[in-house]
Amino acid sequence: MININYLKNYEELSLQAADIVAAELIKKPDLVLGLPTGSTPVGMYKNLIEQNKNGRIDFSKTHTFNLDEYYPIKRADKQSYYRFMFDNFFDFININPQNINIPDGEAPNADSECLHYEQKINHAGGIDLMVLGLGANGHIGFNEPGEFLVPFTHVASLSEDTVKANARFFNSEAEVPKTALTMGIGSIIAKSRKILLLVSGEAKTQAFKHFLYDNKVSAKNPATLLYLHGDVTVLSDIQDI
Ligand code: F6R
Repeated sequence: MININYLKNYEELSLQAADIVAAELIKKPDLVLGLPTGSTPVGMYKNLIEQNKNGRIDFSKTHTFNLDEYYPIKRADKQSYYRFMFDNFFDFININPQNINIPDGEAPNADSECLHYEQKINHAGGIDLMVLGLGANGHIGFNEPGEFLVPFTHVASLSEDTVKANARFFNSEAEVPKTALTMGIGSIIAKSRKILLLVSGEAKTQAFKHFLYDNKVSAKNPATLLYLHGDVTVLSDIQDI
């Protein structure tokens, strides 16, 4: 089932997203949490940091799995998702660093790293709550629109649209890595008990319209695969749709 909630603005969306995560964490302190990077979740992370600081939520037993990472990239690089997660979230909460999982952009063998990452998800018993952002082209993680989707964690090529969209974090488009390690749609759909999809900003209007109204589940619009999952909550600050 897909449950869609429209929020007044980005602040409300971020607050609501953080409250959904917090509620799950309060129910199950050893929650396994799937996490995205990008602009969309930054407000949610800020709210979660605040709730952790004021003692409402505790991350000491929580395990996290990030959706994706550029490949190859050094963890210390400003643009790595590893750095993003520490700069925006992990450095400010009481999580045990050993419980943090992010695909390794420095791994010598990308395919082995993907296999290893998928096994770690299995070993954790799957993901309790998977938080996702929506790409302007309908991608989820780095599962880009195409003829088919790869089920589990794999090496993905970034589409031209995604390279353009992500260039804002780099000095130039040429610097954006063209490949990444990403959970597959199967890792997301089959191994997550609950999914929270965050849709924010005008740039997502077309992708969200297609998601809502095309009435097709298609690899050409990877987000539509979420219709196959039984428990998806969508939060959107796009009103006029
Ligand atoms: C990030 C990720 C991507 C983003 C999507 C939206 O880990 O997997 O799929 O969620 O590209 O990015 P923003 O939020 O920057 O618009």
